[in-house]
Parts: sequence; C-alpha cells; structure tokens
Amino acid sequence: MEKERWMEKEKRIRFRDLIAFPSTTYATFGLYRYPAKFIPHVIAYVLEKYAKPGIEIFDPFAGYGTAGIVARIYNCNYELWDLNPLLETFHSIAIMKPKEVNLREVLREMASCKEEFVPRWSNFEYWFPQDFLPFLFKVWGFYHSLTDTYIKLLLTIPLLKTSRYFSYDDPQRQKLSKSPKSKKRIESLLARNWKDEFFQMVGEEIGKMIKRMKEYQLLSPKQTKAVVKGGVDTLSMQLEGKKDILITSPPYLQSHEYIRQAKMDLFWLGYSEDYIKKLSKLEIPYRDVNPITIYSEVYSQYRDKIEGYYQKIYDRYFWGVLGALTRLQENICSYLCLFVGRTSMRGYQIPIDRIFAEHFSALGWMHKVTLIDTIVARRLFSYRINPATGINDKRTRTENLVILQKK
Ligand SMILES: C[S@@+](CC[C@H](N)C(=O)[O-])C[C@H]1O[C@@H](n2cnc3c(N)ncnc32)[C@H](O)[C@@H]1O
Repeated sequence: MEKERWMEKEKRIRFRDLIAFPSTTYATFGLYRYPAKFIPHVIAYVLEKYAKPGIEIFDPFAGYGTAGIVARIYNCNYELWDLNPLLETFHSIAIMKPKEVNLREVLREMASCKEEFVPRWSNFEYWFPQDFLPFLFKVWGFYHSLTDTYIKLLLTIPLLKTSRYFSYDDPQRQKLSKSPKSKKRIESLLARNWKDEFFQMVGEEIGKMIKRMKEYQLLSPKQTKAVVKGGVDTLSMQLEGKKDILITSPPYLQSHEYIRQAKMDLFWLGYSEDYIKKLSKLEIPYRDVNPITIYSEVYSQYRDKIEGYYQKIYDRYFWGVLGALTRLQENICSYLCLFVGRTSMRGYQIPIDRIFAEHFSALGWMHKVTLIDTIVARRLFSYRINPATGINDKRTRTENLVILQKK
C-alpha cells in the first residue's frame, strides 16, 4: 500500500481525552507496575465503540490483565492468557471487593509468625543483604501459612513491593539488576529501624490497595464470565470456542523479558527456578519458531534492510506473534484490535502496525483504521541500549491501535 493510502487510514487520537477514567492508574488498573501495560482507556475505547454487553473479548498476551478489568465495567465476558503466571494472581486481586480487615491484627500476626518460607532460588543471597533474609523468610512464611484467601490476596502486592524495596534491585531498570543507587538504598535501610519500616510500608501499601479497590467498585464492574490462564504459551495454546473481539498488545520487538523482570516476585510466590527458566525460554522473540508466510510488502522491505542476527530476531518476532494471531483469528467473529509501538531495529523504526494491517487484510479482514496515540504515562525503561540488538535505539514514541473488522 502506498504512503497516501496509509495516511487515509491513520488517525491521531488521545485515548486519555476520550474516556473518562480519572487517570491511567485509577482503581485497580495500576496496583503493580507491569512493564508495557495497556492504559485502560484503550480497552474502554474499543468496548465503547465496538462492543455490546454480553459479548466476549479475548487477550492472548494479557500481562497484568487490564483487558479483563475493563471488560467487567462494560459487562463483557473475557478470556485472558499470558506466559507470566502472575496474571492469574493479579487478576484475582484487581477484581476483589473491598472488605473490612483488622489490619493491625494481620500485621501483628505477621511480625510474630514462626513459620519460614525459603524460595527455591539458588542466587537468592545475591539480591538481599544477609541481615534481611531470616526476617523475610518469616514474613513470607506467614504469607504461605495463610488459609484465608482474601487476606492472602490482599497482602500479595504489598508484600511483593516491599520485599523488592528491601532487595538490591533497581526498579528503574528493565531487568532485575543491582545499581549503585539501589545499594545505597539498602545501606541506608540497614542503618535504620528497618523492621518497623517494613511493616509500615506493607501497611501503607494495603491502605492504597483498599482505596483502589473501592475506586474500582465506583466504576460498577459486573459479574461477567472470565477464563484466565497464566503460565501458558500463546504460540501453542488452542482457543476453544468463538470470541467476538480479540484485543491485545503483543510482546515488543525489542524484548522486555517479562519473566526475568518478574522473577523475584515469582520466587516469593513459590515458583521453582526450573519452572521460571522454562518460561523464560518461551518468550518472544528469543526462541525458535516455525516460519510462516507473512503477507506484507512492508515486512519484506524492512527485512531486506536488516542483516544477519537482527534479521533472525526480526523473523522470529513476526513468525511468533503473527503465527499465533493468524491461528487465533480463525475463532474471532467481529474485530481484531492490535496495539503496537513502532520499535527501532538497526536504526529503522519498524512500522509493525502496517505489517499487521497488511497481513490481516490479505487474510480477509477489513482494515478500518489505525489510531495513533502518543505515549505519556506508559512505563518506558531508562535503557538506551536495546538488549536484542546491542545498539542505541530511538525510543518508541507512539502506540498504534490497528482495528480490523471481519468481512
Ligand atoms: C506488552 S505485554 C502485554 C501487557 C498487557 N496488555 C497489560 O495490560 O498488562 C506482552 C505480554 O506478552 C507476554 N508473552 C511473551 N511471550 C509470550 C508467549 N510465548 N506466550 C504468552 N505470552 C507471552 C509477556 O509475558 C507480556 O505480559
């Protein structure tokens, strides 16, 4: 498709101005800083424009699960998948109703618990100072001994966040990594009354959670049908039954390595090192995938510009993401809504949205529009070097929502 034709289909938009959510982190949309999370406004926009109550939406790369949280507000049923097992936990938390809890009592029991939980992680001591470890094992021992599911879920994110704050991880970095700044933070904590600070922080985080849960209820979520599958590989999963709208934001061409980023949390929640390694190996685009035919001239044009190793990553990315979506679209009845950025590779901004639009048009979908939004609050990492290519990249500046309608 020549340039003019593309221009006709591309429209600038500001999802934040069109949907009346007070902020991107309002309600339970932002309880956890999941990398490259949808802003809830995007899902709301699609549902307001193309959905009716009772239809079913599907997100095969659901991450934190934003699509499901928003779907309830619009009385839509949904199915969510992600390689990251945290999806199931986060989703259960995000839709919980607030209840009265004796917070003081919970924190008192946590402080006096004798149970221990030691994560199955060989590299554990590298991430925490020795002084904190026995304490953290007891705190998490308490967590794992809880039989009240509500309290357990309520404590999950506050404990994950606080434990991470007490580790050498630098939250500003893309992957789990130590930095001079994070080492300083720990040194300073060690010199203070850190146990009291730990419980204080957990208490404050629980308070924030309850506030967010109340905000979510103000949006009147409905009891809709939901299927949520964490720890699954979308490249090989089969979708049962038909869905009305597929809306997703697939992994990035320059990988975020979601599992590596989540690994400390996964260990605390009890996942084993072998399992986490197995999941890491399934992430796109660092895995072998079967080639597929990509029906896009734009894909071929950019492929010719990129050489060697990078071409391999490029191919794996499109074969992986489009391979899965090509299979899954067969079960979609109305719309495909694909939210992607134009990531750089070898200095070229790859128009992933155009490649997707061309490919699905060739498969019989009608390309209705591509809505182009400028990133404001979406979490971008401070990394300048793309881990996939080793080169200094221009950052993604816009996010494009490609909307295709079944003919
Ligand atoms: C851009 S994020 C999606 C974020 C999501 N829209 C949200 O609101 O949080 C892409 C997701 O793809 C997932 N992913 C990567 N490889 C996958 C695979 N092979 N199977 C399933 N999910 C995968 C990652 O774990 C990540 O959560």
